[in-house]
Amino acid sequence: MEKIFILSLLLLPLLASCAEPKKVYIVYFGEHRGEKALHEIEDIHHSYLLSVKETGEDARASLLYSYKHSINGFAAVLTQDEASKLSELEEVVSVWASHPKKYSMHTTRSWEFSGILEEEQRHWIDSKMGGDFLSKARFGKDIIVGLLDSGVWPESKSFRDEGMGPVPNSWKGICQSGPGFNSSHCNRKLIGARYYLKGYEQYYGNVVNASEDYRSPRDMDGHGTHTSSTVAGRVVPNAAALGGFALGTASGGAPLARLAIYKVCWAIPGQSKVGGNTCFEEDMLAAIDDAIGDGVDVLSISIGPSQPVNYTNDGMAIGALHATKKNIVVACSAGNSGPAPSTLVNSAPWIITVGASSIDRAFIAPVVLGNGITIEGETVTPSKLEENKKYPLVYAADVINSGVPKDMAGQCLPGSLSPEKVKGKIVLCMRGSGMRVVKGMEVKRAGGVGFILGNSAENGVEIACDAHVIPATSVLYKDANRILQYINSTKIPTATIIPARTVLNRKPAPFMAAFTSRGPNIIDPNFLKPDITAPGLNILAAWTEADPPTKLSGIDHRVVLYNIHSGTSMSCPHVAAAAALVKAIHPTWSGAAIRSAIMTTAGIRNNVGLPLNDESGSVATPFAYGAGHFRPTKAADPGLVYDASYKDYLQYICSIGEAKDFDPTFKCPKSPPAAINLNYPSIAIPKLKDAMIIKRTVTNVGNSKSIYFFTAKPPLGISVKASPSILFFDHVGQKKSFTMTVKARREMLSKHSTDDYVFGWYTWTDGFYTVRSPIAVSLA
Ligand SMILES: *[C@@H]1O[C@H](CO)[C@@H](O)[C@H](O)[C@H]1NC(C)=O
Ligand SMILES: *[C@@H]1O[C@H](CO)[C@@H](O)[C@H](O)[C@H]1NC(C)=O
Ligand SMILES: *[C@@H]1O[C@H](CO)[C@@H](O)[C@H](O)[C@H]1NC(C)=O
Ligand SMILES: *[C@@H]1O[C@H](CO)[C@@H](O)[C@H](O)[C@H]1NC(C)=O
Repeated sequence: MEKIFILSLLLLPLLASCAEPKKVYIVYFGEHRGEKALHEIEDIHHSYLLSVKETGEDARASLLYSYKHSINGFAAVLTQDEASKLSELEEVVSVWASHPKKYSMHTTRSWEFSGILEEEQRHWIDSKMGGDFLSKARFGKDIIVGLLDSGVWPESKSFRDEGMGPVPNSWKGICQSGPGFNSSHCNRKLIGARYYLKGYEQYYGNVVNASEDYRSPRDMDGHGTHTSSTVAGRVVPNAAALGGFALGTASGGAPLARLAIYKVCWAIPGQSKVGGNTCFEEDMLAAIDDAIGDGVDVLSISIGPSQPVNYTNDGMAIGALHATKKNIVVACSAGNSGPAPSTLVNSAPWIITVGASSIDRAFIAPVVLGNGITIEGETVTPSKLEENKKYPLVYAADVINSGVPKDMAGQCLPGSLSPEKVKGKIVLCMRGSGMRVVKGMEVKRAGGVGFILGNSAENGVEIACDAHVIPATSVLYKDANRILQYINSTKIPTATIIPARTVLNRKPAPFMAAFTSRGPNIIDPNFLKPDITAPGLNILAAWTEADPPTKLSGIDHRVVLYNIHSGTSMSCPHVAAAAALVKAIHPTWSGAAIRSAIMTTAGIRNNVGLPLNDESGSVATPFAYGAGHFRPTKAADPGLVYDASYKDYLQYICSIGEAKDFDPTFKCPKSPPAAINLNYPSIAIPKLKDAMIIKRTVTNVGNSKSIYFFTAKPPLGISVKASPSILFFDHVGQKKSFTMTVKARREMLSKHSTDDYVFGWYTWTDGFYTVRSPIAVSLA
């Protein structure tokens, strides 16, 4: 009897779920109405569930989260039927299903042509905040930066709190305990830590596997430790990475800012850690809601959906909108799906969308060929070959086992190399398929002593710096060809690899990373995105000690304290740090004003004075870099800002006509202003017919008395005129509006192909400040 009872318990839910599949839905009410105690809000949410569920118990059990601080809504397990019943209620703004595996962290996982995952890369931090600016911002000391990520490794020196003052009074967060983490791990630097996994566990079951992740704020992945130390890591002298590379000072951008960690990303059960992570929308919404309630000033979110998502059913965008109401600056990564166009995510106009570019530091490890020619390579591999010894050199395609397909021959894929032909030699392997570090492992398996990783043509001038398991270096495509020619030209080719050293002031820098996702913004092409670019290629920052730098635990047993990593995940926290410092100097500025300051002061030239390039060497466009490369020191003093309020964003949402009223105290105007007139510091006009008039308003934050003049470098075939073209200010805080007429020159209309964008910019300048905005236009 008892057995049967247990069986039916197990079977019933299964049968029920076969009949009517249940998913997690997010039921969103917009703003909270009036003041309510937190338990009252939960009761209200519960009563909505009661209206569609059979019993009170069903309703309780189905509720994953009740969002109470700023976001009004809940996440619950519902049938489609129940979800649509709720969506019909007048007070419900929207209901959408949370899709498993929709969001993940934005580290580089470049899927090359064969679709095999490439290994991640790790790099040293380079924060270029000037000393004056930093001291004016008091190194960000009163600013609290929240990160949604994979957690934190609290023992890292980057998170020490020596000499830091008491935690700001405004802070209301907590330090949540779990395996490997308790309140003693928080301090005056790491002031808060929480974790969210109800959505994850609803989907996968109770499965956080202790060998894959910690069911606590502790970071096994490394990503969260890297991003949080990039924002606000302490100054750590002699931060020695694997092999001692970039030996010097590691520091976050705002070294005295406080960190609040919200762990929302988890290992996918049963996949190797290289295989990825996932972050559930309902978990992220709970984290953002708590972060708003806890009192963060800035949110840095290096996470995104796998594809662009409409703002009104994108949990990250909705959460960020609520943060905006509390003047919290939200920076998000643009994604790593470049260089293809229209790949960009996190493009809502209340988010700072961040692209990634290179820095001017390299880890040079040259190859010296038997004929005396030296070829430049880069690596952060710690192991070395014997000095002054030449080793036999072979091309991987010439030393393969029989049966390896021809197009895979040069790739050093697992099991492809013949130990007989490789033993004791240096092997040239090409990029294209497979993980980079695994290629080195294959050479090692076959008995090789060293390896050279050649870029494929698609990789351009972007070199992947890895910590390989045998002496190695990486070279450009053209240099790989030179090595091949040398191998062809002689009977007994030989080579050696010189150990790497750190070289600064590399030129040209920065250039855009190939992986950084590009515009146009397909969710709403009226906004030019990304907004800005910042260092994201080969960035050094703190790392977890729970996982090797390659993430290939089981094969790689190395532990590192600092690691080099690439992705828009790495550039986003640079901009979050800049925003924290600007906020420290201007505590009353809105998120929009801070973004405007960062954008209008950005640089569009590299360190040899030429326009920013793409990784291929051709000139990059604002669809890669937005307003340009961030210059935090200039952002503190921009002269004018384009401000926008939460209400402006609500009106924008009215204009896209997708949602009901978000806020009961705010009714959509009958004819809301056009999206293009949201007071944004850049301009994008999709499908321009003849002419368009655009409205903007600037606020004087520079000299009290000043006269600004308009200048423009219009896109090819377009004219741009402002009215008025001179703005007079007589006090700080004064606002002045102007219109711009953007006109297609008739003769150009036939020459342009539609969908092709042309780019230009306009500026306001008073002789001291230059306030620059990019323009992108396509013709109808
Ligand atoms: C927290 O964990 C540490 C070990 O990491 C332990 O020594 C300490 O006693 C714990 N503290 C509390 C309050 O549980
Ligand atoms: C936990 O993960 C490890 C490594 O991925 C795996 O070998 C093991 O089978 C997993 N355990 C469970 C219970 O899934
Ligand atoms: C996104 O919005 C557009 C325009 O409002 C609509 O046509 C499209 O169906 C929406 N997509 C999704 C996935 O909701
Ligand atoms: C090397 O020689 C082979 C044939 O021996 C040829 O197919 C290949 O193109 C040559 N490679 C280079 C880079 O010269």
